[in-house]
Order: sequence, then structure tokens, then C-alpha cells
Amino acid sequence: IEVEEFDLVVFGASGDLAHRKLLPALYHRDADGQMPENARIICSARRDYSDDDYRDYAKAALEEHVKDLDDEHLQQFLKRLRYVKIDIATGDGFEDLRTILDERPEVIRAFYLAVGPDLFGTICENLGRIGVVNDHSRVVMEKPIGKDGKSARALNDTVGAVFNEHQIFRIDHYLGKETVQNLMALRFANALFEPLWNAAHIDHVQITVAESLGTGGRAGYYDTAGALRDMVQNHILQLLCLVAMEPPESMNADSVRDEKLKVLKALAPIDEQSIDKLTVRGQYRAGASAGGAVPGYLEELGNNESRTETFVALKAEIANWRWAGVPFYLRTGKRLAQRVSEIVVQFRPIPHSIFDAEAGAITANRLIIRLQPDEGVQMQIMIKDPGPGGMRLRQVPLDMSFAEAFKVRNPDAYERLIMDVIRGNQTLFMRRDEVDAAWAWIDPIQAAWAASKETPKGYTAGTWGPSASIALVERDGRTWAEDDSN
Ligand code: BG6
Repeated sequence: IEVEEFDLVVFGASGDLAHRKLLPALYHRDADGQMPENARIICSARRDYSDDDYRDYAKAALEEHVKDLDDEHLQQFLKRLRYVKIDIATGDGFEDLRTILDERPEVIRAFYLAVGPDLFGTICENLGRIGVVNDHSRVVMEKPIGKDGKSARALNDTVGAVFNEHQIFRIDHYLGKETVQNLMALRFANALFEPLWNAAHIDHVQITVAESLGTGGRAGYYDTAGALRDMVQNHILQLLCLVAMEPPESMNADSVRDEKLKVLKALAPIDEQSIDKLTVRGQYRAGASAGGAVPGYLEELGNNESRTETFVALKAEIANWRWAGVPFYLRTGKRLAQRVSEIVVQFRPIPHSIFDAEAGAITANRLIIRLQPDEGVQMQIMIKDPGPGGMRLRQVPLDMSFAEAFKVRNPDAYERLIMDVIRGNQTLFMRRDEVDAAWAWIDPIQAAWAASKETPKGYTAGTWGPSASIALVERDGRTWAEDDSN
């Protein structure tokens, strides 16, 4: 799709996100010929850089993060970069930004806030003050959008004072992942699944986003957030919405977001009464990961008092006609056994078996949508074991690995999302009321934990989390998917 001429302004251009994600994503889109001829990327930070100093910085970032960097494309990309020194706190430098933007008043303007949320308000006020926000301007907000419903509303109000809702792009990078978008293709471009996609045929759903890394250099932020706010409020609930929503009328942004909102609103509340039954929180202790010894969370943080959870497992229920009685087991954590993110849709067992005992056990069908590391879709079905020996049944996977099936580079989520911002397509971005509804479900959980005397349960780094997480599903006569395959 043709992309119109644009100026993209990146605040926080010397930060981690710009370095690891934004610059590589923009480079790739440029190298793939998807940028208009004169597109500019105006990078801003506090450092005293010239355009050329920043280009050197960007080149180093790309050399580190892009495989097969092509020199010709690199030179073309670096030419697009401009640098403007801005001190957000004092407002110094915004006029320089205006001078650059005024060179092309007619093109699309996107402002990417790749900085901490405490600066969102000041940046927007300054953009308003210098008069650079017009009809073809947009703003991109990174998470965390608040730390609870109240702070999210305040943040959205501040940004909303300068930009209209249709100009605000709240990024949840999980929505840009190939397989997550594939979830919509799978459900709504095939006749096979939708008739079975309900409580009559589905026993339960598991959503796991497991990471093997710890909190790394982000312990400061992470300790104020925890796994529930960092991962569940956004990424995991968004995945849940895509699995559970009704078919939207079209792929139009508001049609999709209306349906997701209904799911969030239908989530059965978890409160002080049900907290112990429906949630497990954990915190990693020293252990082993990727073959080496790793310290525990408290040691990494240098604070023995922290009750911040680095793991959470929840049993959620969507109280509506389609899903009543179908548990959605949600789980995420740092320093787990393996980096794997997947959605497991467990179908109900067959109602009656015509086979005798010799045929072996019949396992219920399961659809696995793997987000990472190796993206793919797998359907587990029963077949007859080949060869003589009578009717013996066996479970086999119908496996579709994207890497094997399509020999194309798998684009990073940010590539797609940044270009959607330029195109003005909000389908894969969170609307304000979605953020509010997600917090409305999360806040009582957070409050119940805060009120509880219990501390998070310890788990050894490199395992699948506290044993209470296994108990959470075993109580219901079920198991986490990886325990079945062992
Ligand atoms: C971020 C969280 O939003 O997502 C991080 O803040 C987490 O804590 C990351 O590590 C996971 O993203 P991905 O794409 O690596 O699965």
C-alpha cells in the first residue's frame, strides 16, 4: 500500500526502544522500498548531537540489531535522519523542532513518545504551544499507560487535551506480531473453526507468555509494575480479546475495537474473596537459566523487601453466552524454563468412543497458536497408527511452521505498527475505553494482593513458576500444555 509523505518525530531517540526496535524497524521498511521518497525521521533527545553525530549513533545501533545490513540501503536510510536537541523538562529546543517541521507543513506528522509516561504530558503541551499539531498529526504512546485506572485516565486526559482520539495511537506491540494477526485470519478466514468456537466445544483456553530472561536493566521500572501490570493488563488481555471476541463487522478499527471492548467488559471480576482461588503470584529465586547460574529477583534489585511479582497465573472467566464456564488460564513470568508464547485452545473430548481398550487413549483435540519463538499453528488430532497391528490410535500434530512454509523474513511487530500510524490505521492500537476496561479488571486484583498478607511465592529461576500455578489448573482436573507433552 502506498504511504504518503511523512515526518516522524521520535522523542527518546537515544533510548533503548529507539535503539533496539524503532531504528531497525524503520530501516527495514525503507530497505523494502516502503517509504516515500522524502520521508524524514527527526530524532530528538537531550544529548548535544549534530545530525551527523546522531547518524553515527544510529549506524551503530543498526549494526548491532540488523542482520545482513546492506550498505546502500543504510546510506539511504541515514540520510533521512535529522537530529534536534530538546530538553523536555525546560521546553528548550521545541522551537528548533518547529523550524524543521515548518519546512514541510503539508505532510503527515507523527510524534512517537518513546520516553517514560511522566514526560507524555509535558511533550504534548509543548507541541500544542509551538503550534505543530494539525489535522494530519498523530501521536504514538508506548506503555505503560498508567499504573492503574486513575493514572491512566489522567494520562489520557493530558494527551487528549492536544490530540483527538483518532490521532492517538496506543501501541501494544503484541498486536503487531505476525501470529497475533494470524489469529484473526485463522478465525475469520476459515469456516472450520468458528462453529466450534464456544463453550459447547471448547473445554478451556491457555495463554502463556513465558520469558527466560530476568528483568535485566529495567528492574527500577519493573519493580513499580510487576507482571500483572507489565504483561497481563496489556499484551495478555489483548490476546484474550482476539481469541474470545465476536466476529467484527469488518476489519475497520472501531469494529474490531468494539468487539474487544465487549470481551473486556464481560471479564468476571476477581476480588478479595476469590483472589486466592483464582490467582497465583510468584517471584524468582536464584537458579539456572540458559545453562548458567542466575541471581534471584531480590538480589538483582538490591532490595529484600520487594513484594513485586515476576510471575502471575490467573483463572479468568468471560461471563457471556459464548464462553460461560470456559476457563481462560493466563500465565506469564520472567526467568521461566523457556521463552515461549502460545495460545492453546483445548477442545472437549469426543462424546463417546467406538474403539476398544486396545486402541489406546483418545486425547481431545487441541489447537496451538505459537507466537514465539518459532511462529506457527498446530492442530493436534487423532489418527490410526500406520501399519499392521490393528486399530491403534495415536495423537499427531498437523503442523504449520511459518519459517518453513514461507521463506520470508518475519517482520518485527514495530515495522507493521509504525507504518499503520503513518497510514492512520488504528485497528491494531488500543482505544481509550479498552485501556480503561482492562484497568477496571486489573485494579481489584492489584488491590486484593496489596490487602493480602501473603507474599509472592518463590520459584527457582529456570522452572515453570511456583507449584501453586500447577495446582491452579490441576484443581480443575486440567494441566498446563507443557506438562502433557513431557
Ligand atoms: C514488554 C514488557 O512490553 O514486553 C517486557 O514490558 C517484556 O517486560 C516484553 O519483556 C516482551 O516482549 P516480546 O516481544 O519480547 O515477547
